[in-house]
Amino acid sequence: MHHKNRIYIAKTMEVFEKIEPLKARLRELRNMRKSIGFVPTMGALHRGHISLIEQSVIQNEITIASIFVNPTQFNNPDDLKHYPRTMEADCAMLQEAGCNIVFTPKELDIYPQGSAKKFDGDFGYLEQVMEGKFRPGHFNGVALVVKRLFEIVTPNRAYFGEKDFQQLAIIKKMVKVYMTDANIEIIPCPIIRESDGLAMSSRNMLLTNDQRKNVALISQTLFAAKKLTTQYSVSELKKWVIEQIDSNPFLKVEYFDIVDNLELQPIELWTDNKIKVGCVAVVVSSGDGGGKTIRLIDNIVF
Ligand code: PAJ
Repeated sequence: MHHKNRIYIAKTMEVFEKIEPLKARLRELRNMRKSIGFVPTMGALHRGHISLIEQSVIQNEITIASIFVNPTQFNNPDDLKHYPRTMEADCAMLQEAGCNIVFTPKELDIYPQGSAKKFDGDFGYLEQVMEGKFRPGHFNGVALVVKRLFEIVTPNRAYFGEKDFQQLAIIKKMVKVYMTDANIEIIPCPIIRESDGLAMSSRNMLLTNDQRKNVALISQTLFAAKKLTTQYSVSELKKWVIEQIDSNPFLKVEYFDIVDNLELQPIELWTDNKIKVGCVAVVVSSGDGGGKTIRLIDNIVF
């Protein structure tokens, strides 16, 4: 908006709730040989989401975002109920970022009466560890909705944040194994953080002021850990990270695993050539272990 020597032409953004008109519009664009970039989201957008939109705008002629709080990926009904919904602000942010089309389906558009609510397939080890272990059924629901969205949008490229590291591995495998006819390039995008290091997340807006101050310890511990790999073995460092975070009364680590970036197999030695990623999930409470809890995840590449 602030380019000095350029006239800015504000483009309108098209919003579709129904699948058929969206598909018709996308057919038109594809017939005009437009490349299509797709950013699936659950809304409550922040700069992390917007960085994906910006990457898509750079690489594609048309960028489409979806906003859909997907019930099948929530293993905790309370989490689904309290998941933030900010549709108007979301659309304003998308338009400002140069997004061309927004798809905002209702639950029955994606899951018509009688349609399957389970993804017919599995991801083996990838869905058994970390998030898969602590959120049973979560990745099945993610795969179900992303496959459905991919079939509707048929993008050339789709953008996913490394914030949800395991999700990225699942999506890559889903496309490779279960969408062999599709030709969708999955583009990973770096984690966007707040100034104190906290990884941006829609769930951050549910934190109380007290909780918000304390959760900075999560990313700060990961950054500190990155500098300790010459001093500690892998298992010593894992223990150290958990102790650091757990020492804060608001925080309780669910898991901290150091895994390779492709298969998510545990790393034993720093000399391992694979790309090593430390992944953490933390339950944030009201400081006495109780109250409404919020679950946050983060990760760092060693
Ligand atoms: P949601 O949590 O809304 O995230 C949408 C996309 O934004 C994901 O690819 C996520 O990794 C990315 N993202 C979130 N926070 C980020 C950050 N701080 N930096 C960079 N990218 C970030 O992930 C989902 O929705 C859903 O599971 C979905 C894929 C839409 C399927 O329902």
